[in-house]
Order: sequence, then structure tokens, then C-alpha cells
Amino acid sequence: MSDFSATTCVRAAVGTDQSYGAVIPPLHLSTNFTFKGLGDRRKYDYTRSGNPTRDILGETLAELEEGHGAIVTSSGMAALTALVHLVDADQLILAPHDCYGGTFRLLTALHKQGRARVLFLDQGDHRAFENAFTSGSEKVGLVLVETPSNPLLRVVDIAAISAICRRHGALLAVDNTFLSPALQRPLTLGADLVVHSTTKYLNGHSDVVGGAVIAKTAELSERLTWWANCLGITGAPFDSFLTLRGVRTLSARIRLHEENAAAVAQLLSDHPAVAKVYYPGLASHPGHALARSQQQGFGGIISFELNAGIAGVHAFLEGLTCFSLAESLGGVESLVAHPASMTHASMAAEAQARAGITPQLLRLSIGIEATKDLICDVRLGLDRVHALRSQPRSDIDSVSRAATY
Ligand SMILES: Cc1ncc(COP(=O)(O)O)c(C=O)c1O
Repeated sequence: MSDFSATTCVRAAVGTDQSYGAVIPPLHLSTNFTFKGLGDRRKYDYTRSGNPTRDILGETLAELEEGHGAIVTSSGMAALTALVHLVDADQLILAPHDCYGGTFRLLTALHKQGRARVLFLDQGDHRAFENAFTSGSEKVGLVLVETPSNPLLRVVDIAAISAICRRHGALLAVDNTFLSPALQRPLTLGADLVVHSTTKYLNGHSDVVGGAVIAKTAELSERLTWWANCLGITGAPFDSFLTLRGVRTLSARIRLHEENAAAVAQLLSDHPAVAKVYYPGLASHPGHALARSQQQGFGGIISFELNAGIAGVHAFLEGLTCFSLAESLGGVESLVAHPASMTHASMAAEAQARAGITPQLLRLSIGIEATKDLICDVRLGLDRVHALRSQPRSDIDSVSRAATY
């Protein structure tokens, strides 16, 4: 596998401007482009179908993911929408039972309307996975993998699943949002397609909602481009410009995210207020060895369960100074989310329980602030939770019962 190229990130289309020699390629906001004459079209005609600024971002992402081509979309959900259009309505889509809540909602809604056939399963369970291919009468058209998964950081063996997909003629798509191509390149492990919410690490500054799908082959790339234009889900030029600016610093940012995450994960695993830590960088994580072999790092997202009821969750959150309570992840600033009531609220309670999302679960997106400040903030938060535990049990339970999720 070739190395991730920080140089590609930094130098994407630098110095290519033909008009003024601008170092950074200019932003083309125009919705339309003149024809040279009747029937004599230039490279671009209409921005929904193609735009020079957006194309630079698409080409850069394709290069970083080692794919043939990419579409840039208006959101990660738009990218997933394009993806499901590659499959005929009577073909089965296999998806993780613990994927991002919005993905779960989209696929469930399409399934209910009869627009797609979707089966959610635990993709760590290889037997269930093989069965899904062989037991039913429906042909599996697409397998969607999210690794590490949101929010429980389950690590899925991309090469093993790719081998099963090949045997059965199904496409394999990997949502690589949590790691970015800096830390994982699924196409080199056998995937056919990579999906991103570029809202996260690729943009990295919490100021653009965007997405992308990168295809391994020219044929898949052409089909995606056709669908993105047909559905009208291509990304805006200004968003592409900002995202490319974010991509230029991806390599430097991701190292800091990871350094900070490793320190916070260690603190969490040593603290008595914490019941469980989900971070593939910890040797105790069940996916650690696999993550080590298929990833180039462990990333900046950590989930953990507090050793306390909902009162503990309140105690942890109220008083944090370096973490904002907000959805999303992958920005330079640290965030904390409560998946059960925020990012995964669209999943029914039973689906949350099946996926392992409990009311005590919190997800941290570790930013690039000074390590000592993050550590101090998390330690104080955990100490507040621990102090609660020395209160009479009935107090804690009564708050827990009062909470509505
Ligand atoms: C793993 C994953 N995939 C897809 C999405 C959807 O992306 P967006 O919010 O940009 O539509 C998200 C959003 O949080 C996500 O975490």
C-alpha cells in the first residue's frame, strides 16, 4: 500500500491558474458557462453537472483515496443517497446495525417505502454475514460498511468482507468518515466505493456540510456522476473551495487529533467513573489488532460509558469548558455528544439497544487544543461523576427515572 500523501493535500491544483497565476486556484461561483457557439460546448456548461472548483476537490479526494474518480455532494447523506442509486430496487443492501443514525434512518425509510431492500446486521458476526448472502432469495447488490462505526468504534475487516462480496458479485462501499484517507484507504483493501461526510475531518473546521463518494473504477465513477447530476445533489462551489482549504491541512490536523485522543482514552480507561471505553487505539479494544493492520492510525473519536445513571451524564457535561455539547465531529474544536438523544435519536429504542447505544454513552470528538487542557477538563468531569456515586443510591436513581429519552 502506498503512503498517504500530505503533499497531494497541500499542493492540490496549486499554481494551475492560467488567468493571473494565482497560487491558490480561484473560486468559480458561476452557475453557468457560455457556449463558444451553437453546438460548441466548453468543458463546463452548468454547475449542477460540473464546476471547476468542485472538480478540483473531487480529483484530490480520488487521488487521496487511490480511486479512479469522485463525486462531491451537498452532504454526507447526499453521498449515501447517490450510493443507494447504484443498486436496483429488488437487490438487497446489507448495512451495519450500528451505523450513523442518519444512515439508519435513510435506509429504513427507503426499505419501508419499497424503494430499497435493506437488511441491518452485525458485521462483526461473519456467520450472519455469510448467511445473508446465501439464505434468502434476494441477490445482495451492495454492502455498506462503517469502520470504525459511529458511535461504538467497531472495527470491521474490510479485506475479509471484500472477499465475500467478490464471491457473490456484490459491491462493497466503506464509510471512511471517522478516519479520512489519512488513516485508512478502503479501496486498497478491496472496497469498490468510499463514502465520506466531508463535513467531518476532510473539511475539519465545522463550517461546511458536504459529502463525497470515491469510486475504484471508471465505470462506477461515471454512474455516480450521472446520478449526482440527475438527483441534483452535487456540492456548492464555495463549500468545495472551503473543503479543499481544509484538506490542505488534513495530515497535520489528524496527527494532533490522534495524539490528544490517545491521552484522553488512557485517562478514561484509568478512571473509576468510567465503565467502558471504546477506542481502537487501546490494546483492550476488541478491534485493536485489526485496526492496527488495516488503519494507519486510530483517529480522534472516543466513546465511553459512565459508571452512573443519567445524573452522572449531567454531572459530566455540566461544567466542561473545552468540549461543546454538539453533534458532528472531526473539527479542530473538541465536542461531546450524547448519541441516544442526539446523533442516533432517529433510531427506535430497540434499535439503539441492539446496536449497544445506552443512555450512559457519550461520544467525544477530540480536537487539537492543548493536551493538558483537554485532560484537565475530562478529569474534572469524571471526578464530578465519581463524587455523585458516593451519594445515596436512591438520589441517583430518582434522577435517572425522571429522564426522558
Ligand atoms: C459516519 C457518518 N456518515 C455519514 C454522515 C452524514 O453526513 P452529513 O451530516 O454530512 O450529511 C455522518 C454524520 O454525522 C457520519 O457520522
